Amino acid sequence: MILERLRLYNFRCYEETEIEPDSRFNVVIGLNGQGKTSILEAIGLVAFLRSFRGAKNGEMVRLGQTEGLVSAMVRNGDLRAQHSVKLWPTRKQATINGKSCRYLSEYVGKMSAVSFSPTDLEIIRGSPENRRLWIDKLCQIFDPTHADIVARYQKILEQRNRLLRSLSEGGVKRPPADLEIWTDELINWGARIIHNRIHSVDKSVDTISKYYNEISRENTRINVRYLSENFDEVTCGQAPLISLELIAQLLRKRFESSQQKEMILGTTAVGPHRDDIEITMGGNLVRAFGSQGEVRSLVLALRLTEVEVYRTFQKLNPILLIDDFSSELDARRRKFLLDYLLLSESQVFLSTTEELTIGKVFVVKDGKIFAPELNENGHVTDRCQ
Ligand SMILES: Nc1ncnc2c1ncn2[C@@H]1O[C@H](COP(=O)(O)OP(=O)(O)O)[C@@H](O)[C@H]1O
Ligand SMILES: [Mg+2]
Repeated sequence: MILERLRLYNFRCYEETEIEPDSRFNVVIGLNGQGKTSILEAIGLVAFLRSFRGAKNGEMVRLGQTEGLVSAMVRNGDLRAQHSVKLWPTRKQATINGKSCRYLSEYVGKMSAVSFSPTDLEIIRGSPENRRLWIDKLCQIFDPTHADIVARYQKILEQRNRLLRSLSEGGVKRPPADLEIWTDELINWGARIIHNRIHSVDKSVDTISKYYNEISRENTRINVRYLSENFDEVTCGQAPLISLELIAQLLRKRFESSQQKEMILGTTAVGPHRDDIEITMGGNLVRAFGSQGEVRSLVLALRLTEVEVYRTFQKLNPILLIDDFSSELDARRRKFLLDYLLLSESQVFLSTTEELTIGKVFVVKDGKIFAPELNENGHVTDRCQ
């Protein structure tokens, strides 16, 4: 998977710009606040349809403008396609070769990328939502239709919450027939989400352990548990026992017992939108006991696991987006990642404040991008051009 051309219009600090990347290494250099992350974020946006730093649509549109656009020419083998995302403050529209896609999976399944960003620490340290986003991304790599299932669930959840809110405000005591219809739908789609999550974790945990131990040069067992109020915690290795039917049955039980409470609260109290995963290292909860170094190695291992799943399950080399390479990682992890990148067959985009002497260099300055000539030592001769 190769990004051959990237165009930005009114995206972040860029008014209008275009770059033609190298098919292997691309280094984006600049001082802080010059627009490095924005380039990687734009590439991530066309791949994931969201900002890897968790930004809202409106934050990505250039200040003072009403709409922005990111457009990418992507090659997969012999096939080329133009992937575009148009942004407005409250919505976005994705197209492939000018046509909008009916299902999210048609879009996110066609451009594969993995991002490595300082905000990844939130996967461990942050709220459960960060972990749900990570696990859903992993599920999506195994099966792109997971994105459609999550979108469908979210829509049903919103509708059901709207109904519950009106019941709560009206003081209604007896559940109306519509509530049952929405509950059935929520169980149907929610069970599929949970099923995919449990099985994706199960298939990945050995790879996470393998990478963690390679990075940290340790021999520690990483374990992952799926946490849900709907059933006792599921430890990896138990997944074969947990069928879709069983999950649906357990969810139904929970919905039955919490319906009265939900009608009073005016919101949906159970379901995969409240679940979490718990990661332990040698039996200890990493979120609570992990050192900064351990957490950094673990998130790197989580991202490298995504890459491996793309390779083994989709037979694809995803585009790798590495943000803030110089300041985020310490020397040892930097060396590990650089060695990994040199051996990988992926196209790489790496942002850094320090010069690196690999690949094609893009210098960013004041919302403009320059692709300077390098001197014989591989250094940028004139940063400002
Ligand atoms: N929506 C926006 N419109 C205009 N400028 C923006 C917008 N969002 C961020 N910026 C500015 O873009 C600049 C580049 O940000 P960023 O890509 O994060 O820089 P870097 O990664 O090089 O530190 C910053 O100075 C920031 O203030
Ligand atoms: Mg940055």
